[in-house]
Amino acid sequence: MTPAGLPPLPAGEFADLDPAVWPRTVLRGPDGAMVIGGCDVRDLARDFGTPLFLLDEADFRTRAAAFRTSYAGGDAPATVYYAAKAFLATRVARWVEEEGLGLDVASGGELAVALAAEFPPERLILHGNNKSLDEIARALRAGVGLIVIDSLVEIDRVAEVAQRLGVVAEVLVRVTVGVEAHTHEFIATAHEDQKFGLSLSNGEAAAAVLQILERPSLHFAGLHSHIGSQIFDASGFEIAASRIVELAAELAERGIAIEWLDLGGGMGIAYTSYDDPLDVADMAMAIDRIVVKSCERAGLPIPRMAFEPGRAIVGPAGVTLYEVGTVKPVQLDHDLVRTFVSVDGGMSDNIRTALYDADYTVVLASRESAAEPMLCRVVGKHCESGDVVVRDAWLPADLAPGDLLAVAGTGAYCRSMASQYNYLPRPAVISVRDGMTDTVLRRETEADMLSLDPGA
Ligand code: LLP
Repeated sequence: MTPAGLPPLPAGEFADLDPAVWPRTVLRGPDGAMVIGGCDVRDLARDFGTPLFLLDEADFRTRAAAFRTSYAGGDAPATVYYAAKAFLATRVARWVEEEGLGLDVASGGELAVALAAEFPPERLILHGNNKSLDEIARALRAGVGLIVIDSLVEIDRVAEVAQRLGVVAEVLVRVTVGVEAHTHEFIATAHEDQKFGLSLSNGEAAAAVLQILERPSLHFAGLHSHIGSQIFDASGFEIAASRIVELAAELAERGIAIEWLDLGGGMGIAYTSYDDPLDVADMAMAIDRIVVKSCERAGLPIPRMAFEPGRAIVGPAGVTLYEVGTVKPVQLDHDLVRTFVSVDGGMSDNIRTALYDADYTVVLASRESAAEPMLCRVVGKHCESGDVVVRDAWLPADLAPGDLLAVAGTGAYCRSMASQYNYLPRPAVISVRDGMTDTVLRRETEADMLSLDPGA
């Protein structure tokens, strides 16, 4: 019996390596150790150290290509921009480019990585609710395809920089449609109590479009909306699309055409076997139908669509490898023991458990074990009790220091949100494919960190 609130004991065919959760190339080798991209995790740990982020290149490319073809194939064909914030390095930008996607960047730093990878600038879209003058100028000089306007103040800012540079900026207006989506649930409200975008309900979004039209250095290219993240079905997109199409219809009455309609990202992934997101093609088809129906109802031509998935492309392609340092049983009550398993990373390489109460799947990776499962909490090595990697996990009772653990679904928002808390150097990111490895990001060193400190 599993105590209330705890995950059920693993059972069934996919109890170990559920293909819905792990990258496509993951399997158990002949002696039971995990193999990813044709590489044995023990070799990877030996060669690159732990903690280690592994990226399954084939998995990433397959998902990117699936997004491109699924979203391009409907009656409202779309351009897919990979959201860099989930994870970006020059190698990843090249995969994105080769798979035919655009790239969504949300800061000067993300732009710099894209440009260092020689990503075609016309396939870049620039986001941000507080873009600096410098970021705007760098984006315009580079020739980014689209800039998303997030506030009324920003209209003047982008217009002035564009004018100074003698270019016309193609801009979208980010509209807050009053929908907040998370997994199965979404909340549709009239007010929009958050920092992003321009409100639909109080008329700010429409006012922004009119202001943009007065600026000769700006070209109004369309509307944008992003409703949230880790979304499992299309119902939130349905409300968002119909509300935004209503605005497009209002603008059409004034003779203003919408070329682009960008519905953002947020498509969810399975972090555990209990998560059940729609697959890429089904989600694409559902959203396509919604957009086509909304446009028909409003008597509008179908605009060029855009989407900005991040997590759904890179999340499942990533695995974190940790080495177990200590195994410490703690008696919770007379018949319940929780074993704290300390690994050599923690909240500095995965803040999502502490920040969002995120759930992850963890397995013993360096060997197989027939030992009974024991209830574990996988924790990091930081000086903080909230430093939890996986809150509740069943791991074999013979788990011991030196074993390797693998955590699934860490490709998105783990390395990109990593810190140097306690001066832990940030882990390397290694891509694996057909038994070969490539360094995506090398491991940070203590010397790297000390180089920031002029007194060192
Ligand atoms: N486009 C816009 C305008 C966004 O704000 C975001 C995410 C995306 C696209 C990509 O969303 P995705 O498809 O990756 O869900 N740190 C959080 C996620 C924050 C997402 C913020 N914006 C996490 O770790 O769950």
